[in-house]
Amino acid sequence: RYRDPNAAEKMNPFAEQEAWEEHQIGKATLKFGSKNRKQKSDEYQFVFEDQIEFIKDTIMDGENVDQESSIEELNKSIAKSAFDKLQDDRKTLPVYPYRDELLQAINDHQVLVIVGETGSGKTTQIPQYLHEAGYTKRGKIGCTQPRRVAAMSVAARVSQEMGVKLGHEVGYSIRFEDCTSETTVLKYMTDGMLLREFLGEPDLASYSVVMVDEAHERTLSTDILFGLDIARFRPDLKLLISSATLDAEKFSDYFDSAPIFKIPGRRFPVEIHYTKAPEADYLDAAIVTALQIHVTQPPGDGDILVFLTGQEEIETAEEILKQRTRGLGTKIAELIICPIYANLPTELQAKIFEPTPEGARKVVLATNIAETSLTIDGIKYVIDPGFCKMKSYNPRTGMESLLVTPVSKASANQRAGRSGRTGPGKCFRLYTAHNYQHDLEDNTVPEIQRTNLANVVLTLKSLGIHDLLNFDFMDPPPAEALLKALELLYALGALNKLGELTKVGRRMAEFPLDPMLSKMIVASDKYKCSDEIISIAAMLSIGNSIFYRPKDKQVHADNARLNFHMGNVGDHIALLKVYSSWKETNFSTQWCYENYIQVRSMKRARDIRDQLEGLLERVEIEVTSNVNDLETIKKAITSGFFPHSARLQKNGSYRTVKHPQTVHIHPSSGLAQVLPRWVVYHELVLTTKEYMRQATELKPEWLVEIAPHYYQLKDVEDPTSKKMPRGEGRTS
Ligand code: CDP
Ligand code: MG
Repeated sequence: RYRDPNAAEKMNPFAEQEAWEEHQIGKATLKFGSKNRKQKSDEYQFVFEDQIEFIKDTIMDGENVDQESSIEELNKSIAKSAFDKLQDDRKTLPVYPYRDELLQAINDHQVLVIVGETGSGKTTQIPQYLHEAGYTKRGKIGCTQPRRVAAMSVAARVSQEMGVKLGHEVGYSIRFEDCTSETTVLKYMTDGMLLREFLGEPDLASYSVVMVDEAHERTLSTDILFGLDIARFRPDLKLLISSATLDAEKFSDYFDSAPIFKIPGRRFPVEIHYTKAPEADYLDAAIVTALQIHVTQPPGDGDILVFLTGQEEIETAEEILKQRTRGLGTKIAELIICPIYANLPTELQAKIFEPTPEGARKVVLATNIAETSLTIDGIKYVIDPGFCKMKSYNPRTGMESLLVTPVSKASANQRAGRSGRTGPGKCFRLYTAHNYQHDLEDNTVPEIQRTNLANVVLTLKSLGIHDLLNFDFMDPPPAEALLKALELLYALGALNKLGELTKVGRRMAEFPLDPMLSKMIVASDKYKCSDEIISIAAMLSIGNSIFYRPKDKQVHADNARLNFHMGNVGDHIALLKVYSSWKETNFSTQWCYENYIQVRSMKRARDIRDQLEGLLERVEIEVTSNVNDLETIKKAITSGFFPHSARLQKNGSYRTVKHPQTVHIHPSSGLAQVLPRWVVYHELVLTTKEYMRQATELKPEWLVEIAPHYYQLKDVEDPTSKKMPRGEGRTS
């Protein structure tokens, strides 16, 4: 590979840090920016006048034109002017003046690191430039995103800009949803999906360019993609690594001093405000701050972006904001509340990008997703409580949990920066300056160092990479976490004693699921209940958005939910019942309505189930149903989840069997009042306590029967009576 470490300086006049800063914050930029904005509104005016002219014309020679075709013409013209407007907008993006230089640099180097502020046009423009320059004649352009919402929304935007239908030339691919076709040349995808494509096409032969976008996020899949060193085996493949932050040197170093191309950004000054004392309730503080801004600042001067940690918090904030603004009545300007988080239904996602109507203000309630992956125009105020939800993993116990954690300084600064994109901004940090200085870490720990690696190890093993300890990780995971993953895969039967992939492991790797879920599916072959198990797996993949519980109908909702738990069958079987009952009604929406079930989640479960069914065929597992034998279904579940077993204690809490830890049944579980002596659970979530979500009763002897290499009799014997609990007898 040809490398010129100094090329970056040569090709970009602003590569010098100092010059860049000046360019960003200097007065010239400010003027440039505001002039630009004004220009935009004039353009709108212009488009509008154009249309009026057109309408006048059509009316004038109305006698000759039949009504229908003239309306069609009119629509075409409106679409065309919207299209032209988009084309003009493209030219105002910071990346545009560097288009040719950038294309030249890509031409000259196989690997290029591209750095530019969020919103400079990296994600939406660069793939289009490459397409315009003819790269797609040689193969697709793949652009990876760490988040599904970003992949979808960016693809939608680019298809608009290119004037094509989404899924044709421009498409996206995320887990369980492939919106691409034969004609797709620009493919936005989650980094996890690209990793999966490797399994089928190890040299990525159908691609001419791969752009690993948002590389600064350092997600697990991005890090693994780096380590696979895609470029080495394909000298004709271009690899672009793009990042929103300045620490690009690290990427450059990792890729043998690949040149760095910096896109000078436009950034306006951002005023940072801290609280004087720490906030006891950051959610409430965030809401109060948002309302204060809204009430005291003139409407139309800018929108508000609030960073919260997750869907539940966002929904709570939305509700409270609605209540309080309703209380204020017509005394205040309209406040449009726009939530955005990963599971938000597609049709609602578009709302955050709609321009704010005159006289109103938008408040966007977002997760981390708005930190760098999505750019919302018109934000002037950022409210940053300083927290995010982060996965953490304890390699000692093998427990993974999602924790609300303080953000890093790097994150806090990205968040603040979101307010200064189109004009000077303000950021309200709901923590003290002292907190910022002394309590926040400089950078977020890369995901690979705080996650369960079982899935990654299985993927790497199926790619034929055996020596994981010497894999070229950018930041290696703790050796303990790697060993833990190997141990788990061995326990699940995916690897043999030598660490080689087994037939079971090969089958498991076909499923884009966690190894425990895949194992449960593969095991269902033995228990002849694959039909039921894939329904359960699909329902589990939806997360906890199946039942809903409106505030004014909680009793009804709870009763409806309890119906599915009749006979204390456990949460897994209850999920199965929900799915099969819905299927029996021919997937009726009305039925969902009556049972307080989210139809949207159910449709997604159906899609996932369909795909799992397709994958069953691929691994040659027959679809067999065994619905009357709940015990075998539970055994199949246990075959995947036996490491997640727990035993009841005297005080009503549970103790996990391996790596003992105190846990509790989640209050939403059907078993919360039942408290069986033994349970197998799907996952642990830490809120006020360590909770098991989705639990099912288990007979302890199953553990020794199903996983004799993992559990010994002494693990499941009752320590006091030296007898098997419930006198169910021993099986081995
Ligand atoms: O990738 P980067 O952060 O550099 O920018 P981008 O995502 O390409 O966004 C460039 C511009 O496209 C943004 O400033 C938005 O105005 C616009 N955009 C949009 O309107 N809707 C989207 N879904 C994505 C981008
Ligand atoms: Mg981007």
